[in-house]
Amino acid sequence: MYLGLDIGRQYVKMVAADKTKNGYKLIDAGSRLIPDPNSAYDPEKIDQSHYVIAVKELFRQQGLNPKKAKVMISGINGSSASIKQITTMEMPSDELKSAMTFEARKHIPMDGTDAVIDYQILGSNKKEVDKIDVGLVACTKGVLNNHIDLLKECGLKPGVVDVNPIAMSNAFSFIKDMPEDGLVVMLDIGAISSTLVVYGKGEQFFTRDLPIGGHHFVKELSEKKEIGYTEAQDLLFRDGITSTKADTSSENIDQVGIAERTVYDNLVEDMRRSLRFYAKQTGQSFFLKIFLTGGAAATPGLTAIVNEKLNIECAVFDPFDSVDGAGDISISNPSQYTTALGLGIRGGMDLG
Ligand SMILES: Nc1ncnc2c1ncn2[C@@H]1O[C@H](COP(=O)(O)OP(=O)(O)OP(=O)(O)O)[C@@H](O)[C@H]1O
Ligand SMILES: [Mg+2]
Repeated sequence: MYLGLDIGRQYVKMVAADKTKNGYKLIDAGSRLIPDPNSAYDPEKIDQSHYVIAVKELFRQQGLNPKKAKVMISGINGSSASIKQITTMEMPSDELKSAMTFEARKHIPMDGTDAVIDYQILGSNKKEVDKIDVGLVACTKGVLNNHIDLLKECGLKPGVVDVNPIAMSNAFSFIKDMPEDGLVVMLDIGAISSTLVVYGKGEQFFTRDLPIGGHHFVKELSEKKEIGYTEAQDLLFRDGITSTKADTSSENIDQVGIAERTVYDNLVEDMRRSLRFYAKQTGQSFFLKIFLTGGAAATPGLTAIVNEKLNIECAVFDPFDSVDGAGDISISNPSQYTTALGLGIRGGMDLG
């Protein structure tokens, strides 16, 4: 059994799967809220002990012993890591290692500890002779050690540590056929931030963290309607983004025409800026489709607004789509498990 564990900032998610001859069979999937369910979610009030309790409770709730897993794979958030595709001169491997360490230090927020790097030569560069493309993943020792300490406190044996944006793209390649031409965009909308990933066959991999998540959707609605956090959350899950639209009834008639900028406009604007940046850097702008994942991808009306404003087809991604065994498990918000599934199948990819 391979166990993918995605410790988010509001929910911890797990996916357990067995490797079969032609893929994977899903054994179990489940999630657990990290903060107290009856009060407003306040990320500032969550500390290590909340995470530890939630992880332990999750395994108890699922009736699953994590020690039975052949490998457990957990992930570091994209905001604490750097994932870059780099083009460099061909060079001996020890030189490449120090060049990559030097490169990594430029991109990760340094915290006084050393950089930990992992890289893979992807092949020779298409445009420049004598140059190679390298995929580089890096974070600091401080970030990695904190993550491992958390797993140990949860009573878990740390296994493989991956990075969430790569897990997302692995989940995608597992479920869908990668198109021969063009780019796929994924946006994992979590609680506190969203992870954008752009990639395609033979195209540059790109990821960026956008500072808006489902927590901001709920907060904005709660402020605009002057209602409590949990009430706003229920309303948002049911009615979606239209519940945030300014009231245009008769007493507010003078406000008609003044389109107020919403948190959704800001998120779409951040996406537009990132895609524009990608296109400028790579000369490639054939964005085929945008897939929304993460817990807040289920917000009604979100795919429509992304599609309308960016003029790119948009859909919610289902990581369990046609996966063997998924029919036997009840999952209320499948897209929330994309990263956990991507982490889980990583175990089978690397370790046979
Ligand atoms: N049915 C639903 N409809 C709309 N939004 C939902 C639904 N269920 C959960 N959410 C939202 O999803 C978000 C949590 O999603 P997720 O579990 O992916 O976040 P996380 O991984 O804990 O956070 P982060 O990735 O920022 O660390 C919350 O903001 C929550 O309001
Ligand atoms: Mg998350």
